[in-house]
Amino acid sequence: MRKLNFSSGPATLPEEVLRRAQEAIWDLDGSGIGLLEHSHRGPEFMRVLEGAEAAVREVGGIGDEFAVLFVTCGATQHFEMVPRNFLATGETVDVCHTGVWSGKVIEEAKRFGTVHVACSSEADMFASVPSTFSWSASPRYVHYTSNETIYGTEWAAPPTAPAPLVCDASSDIFSRPLPLANHALIYAGAQKNLGPSGISLVIADKKFIETGATKLSPLAQYRVYAKERSLHNTPNTFGVWMIGEVCRWILAHGGLAGMAEANARKATRLYDFLDGSRSWRAHAKPGSRSNMNITFRGATPAAEEALLAAAEAKGLSGLRGHRSVGGLRASIYNAFPEEGVQQLVSLLQEHDAS
Ligand SMILES: Cc1ncc(COP(=O)(O)O)c(C=O)c1O
Repeated sequence: MRKLNFSSGPATLPEEVLRRAQEAIWDLDGSGIGLLEHSHRGPEFMRVLEGAEAAVREVGGIGDEFAVLFVTCGATQHFEMVPRNFLATGETVDVCHTGVWSGKVIEEAKRFGTVHVACSSEADMFASVPSTFSWSASPRYVHYTSNETIYGTEWAAPPTAPAPLVCDASSDIFSRPLPLANHALIYAGAQKNLGPSGISLVIADKKFIETGATKLSPLAQYRVYAKERSLHNTPNTFGVWMIGEVCRWILAHGGLAGMAEANARKATRLYDFLDGSRSWRAHAKPGSRSNMNITFRGATPAAEEALLAAAEAKGLSGLRGHRSVGGLRASIYNAFPEEGVQQLVSLLQEHDAS
């Protein structure tokens, strides 16, 4: 029996896509060779790559001024790769600090240039996204994390900043319309809303890419991925296929407007319950709440453990909060079924003080 998987990533993927993957692994499009066995230089994989890029562009409404890159790494590597490319000694990056992930962005960027924390919600236990900013004199770029997977906050709209935006969109990419205006580069690890781990999607302004450092090894330069269409070396061919198929699934289910509507409905159902509950309370504050990762606490650690045990017994898996914050977390990305959210609410109701 398949469980309801509330994991923060790798996470629930669309059933239709997983079933097609089973077939494609055995025989890709009737070619007689499986997806994992095809040469990345052959015509079959070229069709996969071109189709995946086209699907990403169609889903995101991404024009030709942006490059779409498939990079064989997780989002963590971009914490280092972005400043390595775009931050020289003497230059400053402004970072919006909203939790664990932006903390790592800050640490990596310090190795290349000056980091200015332009806003922070640390004093608020990262329960909100900042609303006041103090920009440095002339930042090279501004980094923000559109969705803080661990604390469960999400920017309703990108910050209005005095420099091009770089966004870590790992945990809410393609969950709602993609804000491309003022963005120089968006990166996202695939394992939440796009496909498997170990591959990331990068959407980057072609002109911005060209401003990057040139004396780096080829695979450290976004420029090389753009020039060589993500084929400088053997890419994660399976990951590229999955991203293409997941994007086609998004298109068949109402595109990003359809995703946004369903995601808001799912999250609201859970937040409404938490706000009216006597025993459970949401961590994130209204106005900053994530539709992807809903973090919440019980009245006592014992009550949380009892809920987790009852959930596991009913096949509701992956609800334990991140080890750094504790509590519970329901990750309900695009492919997570609405019915699963209802099951969680019913279980929480059973464990609510009357
Ligand atoms: C917002 C965010 N950024 C970065 C990462 C790191 O991704 P990876 O483990 O693929 O490097 C995660 C992982 O869950 C994340 O949620």
